[in-house]
Order: sequence, then C-alpha cells, then structure tokens
Amino acid sequence: MTTPEHVAIIMDGNGRWAKARGLPRLAGHRAGVEALRKTVSAAGEMGIPWLTVYAFSSENWSRPKSEVNDLMGLLKLFIRRDLAELHKNGVRVRVIGEREGLAPDIRGLLDEAESLTAGNKNMNLVIAFNYGGRDEIVRAARRIADAVVRGDLKSEAVSPEVFADYLDTAGIPDPDLVIRTSGEVRMSNFLPWQAAYSELVFMPCYWPDFTRDHLADALGQYAVRERRFGGVLERGIAL
Ligand code: IPE
Ligand code: IPE
Ligand code: MG
Repeated sequence: MTTPEHVAIIMDGNGRWAKARGLPRLAGHRAGVEALRKTVSAAGEMGIPWLTVYAFSSENWSRPKSEVNDLMGLLKLFIRRDLAELHKNGVRVRVIGEREGLAPDIRGLLDEAESLTAGNKNMNLVIAFNYGGRDEIVRAARRIADAVVRGDLKSEAVSPEVFADYLDTAGIPDPDLVIRTSGEVRMSNFLPWQAAYSELVFMPCYWPDFTRDHLADALGQYAVRERRFGGVLERGIAL
C-alpha cells in the first residue's frame, strides 16, 4: 500500500462534538487536543514522515474573545505538556502561520518547540497556527518584492519553485493527502498553494472522535486514488 509522505489534517468539529453532549465548546477543544496527541503517535507508528495540523486559522480571530483565549491557552498547555514527549520520540516540530502579533509567551513557546526539536529526524509535526493560505501567499509576495527591490532577486527568476521557497512551508514537501473531519467539504484557507494536487478525504466524524482507525481508513482511500498531476496514466504508470 502506498503510504503518503505528507498528511495534512483540518481538525474540525470540536464545537459540534461538545454541543451534541451539552458541553461548552471548550470541552470540545480539550477533547480535540487528546485526539491530536493520539493522531501524532498513530501517524508515527504508521510511518508517515510529515503530519501537518490546522490548529488555528487567521480567520479564527473572529470568534468570541473567550473562545480565542481558550484556544490560545490550549496551545500553550499542549506545548508545555507535550514538547518533552515529542522530543523524546524524535519528532521535529515546525510552525507555519503569522508569528507577528501573537502574544510574546505564545511566540516564545513556538520558537522553543522549533529550536528544541530542530535536530530530530523520526517524524515531522507541522502546526499551522494563526495560519491562513492567502495571508501566507501575500507575505511571500511581499518578501519577494523586497528582494527584487534590494537587487537580490530578478523578477524573471521568480518561478513556482522560487515562490515556494518564500512560503512558510519552504523545505516541506506538499501534502499528498488532506483530511477534513466534521463533514464540512471546504478548505477554509488551508494550504491553497501546497494542496494544489493533494488528494482530499472528507470524513463525517467530529475531530475529537477521530481515531487511528479513521486515519487508516483515509490512508486506504488514498492508496486506491490515481494521481495524475495533469498527465496521463498508462497501465498505472505515470508517463
Ligand atoms: C475546530 O473545531 C477547531 C478550530 C477551528 C480551532 P471548531 O471549533 O471549528 O468546531 P465546529 O466546526 O464549530 O464544530
Ligand atoms: C478551519 O475550521 C480551521 C481549523 C480547523 C483550525 P473552521 O471551523 O474555522 O472553518 P469554517 O469556518 O467552518 O470554514
Ligand atoms: Mg469548525
């Protein structure tokens, strides 16, 4: 079975999971962190080298202040509680998204997670936090414009490969498979550049209910997909 090199997950449905149980949304987000923990270890055991998770979007600031605070608190808790374990397991953590404007303690923790684990090689966990695809592309375009103005880059030299080097995901392979839980069938500004040719799997289960079996199911769906990248296939071999 073809295992994807990079799986990216839109972890959606925490609020509805809580509502269905008559619980506050925070309880759903807490349960979501548990599902994340289990998914990182399942992905490691299944031999997936890259896992990206959408934890907080640049549009999630529009939620009530109390929920935003809860989500910030949970990120801090996750890093404080889990960083040592991730490091012990050889997981390298990277964070994509806009770091500017985040509270100093959050920035500090994100920087610490990246620097502590920088040398790890077993698996890569990419956390998309304060991430929005359009925001990422605009920031890349600005940095390219600055480089051209400085004379460090010629505009004719800007190719898709060069452009990708200015994105937050520079050096990270494109996701082969994107999974979204909760039944919503949309991308919500997640990796618009990088997921141009990704296989998409949408699952009805709410994120806190996501288990290793759901991951295995998504990998099974991926394994029978025929990826063409715009070309043609002859006897299963991309020409
Ligand atoms: C996903 O769950 C978590 C974040 C977006 C941070 P939601 O909070 O979006 O849950 P629903 O979609 O309202 O059920
Ligand atoms: C996407 O979920 C963002 C994350 C999972 C972090 P949302 O719940 O914010 O997306 P919409 O609002 O349903 O599009
Ligand atoms: Mg949602």
